[in-house]
Amino acid sequence: MSILLLSGSPAAPSSTGRLLDHVGDKLAALGHRYTRLNVRDLPAKALLHADFADLALKRAVDAVAEVEAIVIATPIYKASYTGLLKAFLDLLPQDGLKDKLVLPLATGGSQSHMLALDYALRPVLHALDARQVFTSIYATSQQLTWSDVSGLTVDQAIAWRVQAGVDALSAALHAQRKQPDQIFVASAQPVRLAR
Ligand SMILES: Cc1cc2nc3c(=O)[nH]c(=O)nc-3n(C[C@H](O)[C@H](O)[C@H](O)COP(=O)(O)O)c2cc1C
Repeated sequence: MSILLLSGSPAAPSSTGRLLDHVGDKLAALGHRYTRLNVRDLPAKALLHADFADLALKRAVDAVAEVEAIVIATPIYKASYTGLLKAFLDLLPQDGLKDKLVLPLATGGSQSHMLALDYALRPVLHALDARQVFTSIYATSQQLTWSDVSGLTVDQAIAWRVQAGVDALSAALHAQRKQPDQIFVASAQPVRLAR
């Protein structure tokens, strides 16, 4: 499986989850296959106790290891990403995102914390050795409208950012598959890795 859609929202239904589904639809339209993991569905006690013997937890950690790319989505809670997401990221090995492409995504109640992904989550993704972290996508509740009939409607500005993020991720995936030993840096020539 090439892409994992990971949601760190404790809520259901979840605005973050709906935006993540929307990103999944866009990726599927470009021919990509993905799996979905909601951290809230993992056994809570095992997650909080970091019980690596738990099979569901082990499968979730393995799911991260197996993919080429991850779309990590979180609501903004208290000016940061959720504790639920952190509990899961803490289970990954120190280089748990090695060679992975990562697209961060968040929903928040207002524009006040639109930089939270960049000041809080991005350093963690780099500490986990992500190969490339794309420009974050942030949407407020006002920019997302849900209808049980027509589903999710996103504001034009968000639709544009989602498409740009999906296109960048898709292009990097294609490039990586063609030349797996090169790092692609935005707007720069590929750098060949020393072996
Ligand atoms: C406990 C809690 C803390 C929150 N803190 C913030 C915050 O600091 N900044 C913000 O913009 N929104 C905040 N919000 C609003 C959520 O980020 C927003 O409603 C988000 O879209 C919820 O996504 P979800 O439906 O996936 O849970 C908070 C919501 C909750 C429940």
